[in-house]
Amino acid sequence: MKITVIGAGSVGATTAQRLIEKELGDIVLLDVVEGLPQGKVLDMIEAGPVYNYQCRIVGTNSYEETENSDIVVITSGKPRKPGMNRDALLKVNVGIVKDVVGQAIKKSPNAILIVVTNPLDAMAYVTYKVSKFPRERIIGMAGVLDSSRMRTFIAMELNVSIEDVHAFVLGGHGDTMVPMLRYATVAGIPVTELLSKEKLDAIVQRTRDGGAEIVNLLKTGSAFYAPSASIVGMVDAIINDKKKILPCTVLCKGEYGFNDIFLGLPVKLGKNGIEQIIEIKLNKEESDALDRSADSVRKLCKNISL
Ligand code: NAI
Ligand code: 2OP
Repeated sequence: MKITVIGAGSVGATTAQRLIEKELGDIVLLDVVEGLPQGKVLDMIEAGPVYNYQCRIVGTNSYEETENSDIVVITSGKPRKPGMNRDALLKVNVGIVKDVVGQAIKKSPNAILIVVTNPLDAMAYVTYKVSKFPRERIIGMAGVLDSSRMRTFIAMELNVSIEDVHAFVLGGHGDTMVPMLRYATVAGIPVTELLSKEKLDAIVQRTRDGGAEIVNLLKTGSAFYAPSASIVGMVDAIINDKKKILPCTVLCKGEYGFNDIFLGLPVKLGKNGIEQIIEIKLNKEESDALDRSADSVRKLCKNISL
């Protein structure tokens, strides 16, 4: 399998590194900055003898090298700074995503596109409008990351193994995301039976603020270790046809009552990309929260001019 990662910054380069360490395929790392992908890739190749990985990786500024990719991961674009929300990145990143999607699909018309650039739900929409790919092949990464943060905070609070904690976050990748407490469990036990309402509320809020918490600590960029791990989890599910159920950002065609917007929903990921969107029953509170999240994504997308 051939995997192209566009953007050799913090998220893109760390994703490439994780991909080669897992030997998931032949990797191409592309960036507009001359020397950046080439330098980072050479550095990764030179780690091979120590880590013993065998796979081909190329760093490039040219789309020629990306030809016939099976998966293209789009991380190119500006990250936010302290005090900014993700939506403030819309204007600058629309142009970048439009450009890279246009170029990437000419070389890889059958690829599955994984969108990462923020504001995520809007960038997935731009990718869809530019590529005109079927929705099965346009997948936004956000829910895996947000859910991983939620799982981490639950495990930290209860001092239990992260392996036992399951939870997922739906909706847009913004302040209105919807952490699904009712479906969060520890070894099958509902988390609502293990923690007080105050503790659960705090976990929900920390999950919503998870990206900002890292930005405020780093001051010069946003998170990349957990984001790149989340991307690689999705790539692995596709390449190895794992049929994993993961929260991913997908184009809604009537699911949960939404149409023509990208929103984080539980999906089955396999070799064809999105193989199923799973509809679970929501109570009134959850369904209102998902509506609010969809409203904010819709409002943002109205400001996109392609
Ligand atoms: P970064 O600034 O470290 O890297 C971005 C890279 O994109 C730079 O190397 C830049 O040269 C490159 N780039 C810019 N325009 C390009 C173009 N036209 N073609 C090719 N490359 C181009 O930023 P970082 O931290 O890697 O984040 C990248 C994006 O991912 C940001 O928008 C960030 O907000 C988003 N992000 C989204 C997450 C999610 O959960 N969906 C999680 C983490 C980051
Ligand atoms: C995050 O949540 C930057 O969206 C990214 O960390």
